[in-house]
Amino acid sequence: MKLLITGGAGFIGSHVVRLFVNKYPQYQIVNLDKLTYAGNLENLRDVEKAPNYQFVKGDIVDADFVNALFAQHQFDGVLHLAAESHVDRSILDPLAFVQTNVIGTVNLLNAAKQSWQGNTEGKRFYHISTDEVYGSLDEGGYFLETTPYDPQSPYSASKAASDHFVRAYHNTYKLPMVISNCSNNYGSHQFPEKLIPLFIHNIQHNKPLPVYGKGENVRDWLWVEDHARAIDVIYHQGKDGDTYNIGGFNEWKNIDLIHLLCQQMDAKLGRAEGTSAQLISYVTDRAGHDLRYAIDAQKLMNELGWKPSVTFEEGLAKTIDWYLENTQWLDSVTSGAYQQYYQTQYQNR
Ligand code: NAD
Ligand code: DAU
Repeated sequence: MKLLITGGAGFIGSHVVRLFVNKYPQYQIVNLDKLTYAGNLENLRDVEKAPNYQFVKGDIVDADFVNALFAQHQFDGVLHLAAESHVDRSILDPLAFVQTNVIGTVNLLNAAKQSWQGNTEGKRFYHISTDEVYGSLDEGGYFLETTPYDPQSPYSASKAASDHFVRAYHNTYKLPMVISNCSNNYGSHQFPEKLIPLFIHNIQHNKPLPVYGKGENVRDWLWVEDHARAIDVIYHQGKDGDTYNIGGFNEWKNIDLIHLLCQQMDAKLGRAEGTSAQLISYVTDRAGHDLRYAIDAQKLMNELGWKPSVTFEEGLAKTIDWYLENTQWLDSVTSGAYQQYYQTQYQNR
């Protein structure tokens, strides 16, 4: 079995690579990643020498390169995670999201279609997507697999387009595929542009915590290692052509999550309770900010038997511990270009 994992140097991808390399020594794993600002080979130091693992640097937007890679390796399966993934960056530069998320995905679909022509036995294209394609909920209800798409940001529009292309290739060319749509992930190795690692980093350095709007938006949080386990289960047991929502029924209003984070950070840093919360600073809201995401993951739980392994409080504590023990990782990714991004994103907000 030869598997291509795209975006394996990123946050979720590195957890998926680690799980597959360790759990399936009989598989050959090729990790294709462009190493954008979000990709970091440090994330994979512990598996980089494994005999069943190989890293290839490359861009999924380059069709010739992608076709040549498929011709060389004859992959049996693809787990496609490479993407531009940050909503705020999609507001600053939507075209980068169209390039990687839409064109990059179609390039991979074309290469898989070409490579598997005439023999799709045992082949599978697994597209990893997001709950944001369903749009925004008000106070009630959940996203189901049947919820109509209603993306609201350039990021979610590009992910929705890529999901549509994957289904179109299944319908038109019978390409074997499966899609999952997951809620917000948190855990180790997440680039500190996303809420939880950004706020951990700022708390450590006594910097303001920029809460968008009134902090009333709701997100549904899942520990990244539980997402990786779900991906393993869906890749191996999911029904061809099907879609699975992934989430842990774990909704948090941003401001409540931030208070919990501040509390745990105070305890871990030996600060008096309430110290970190003083850093909270309400800033101009994100444009078009989706109010609430909430995943109904019962299909995945009932049909494939997956369930989350940790409570949010446990997962958050493990996550904080990792960042506090890996300050070098955090310091290296927050130097250079990060400073420039931080200025553009947060100055004058
Ligand atoms: P990330 O931004 O941390 O990592 C993305 C990776 O893709 C990086 O390693 C980057 O170098 C690589 N990449 C980007 N453009 C590329 C290109 N053109 N060619 C090759 N590689 C490229 O993202 P993440 O948070 O780990 O998300 C991974 C996937 O999961 C994405 O598809 C995202 O839409 C989806 N997802 C993320 C979340 C979340 O909460 N982070 C939730 C649900 C779904
Ligand atoms: O729902 C899944 C999605 O979750 C993934 O598809 C995306 O790749 C991932 O980035 C994430 O999107 P969000 O926009 O929900 O995540 P982010 O961490 O950027 O923001 C979480 C919430 O926190 C959101 O309501 C915006 C708010 N926020 C975020 C930042 C960065 C702030 O209040 N201040 C901030 O500085």
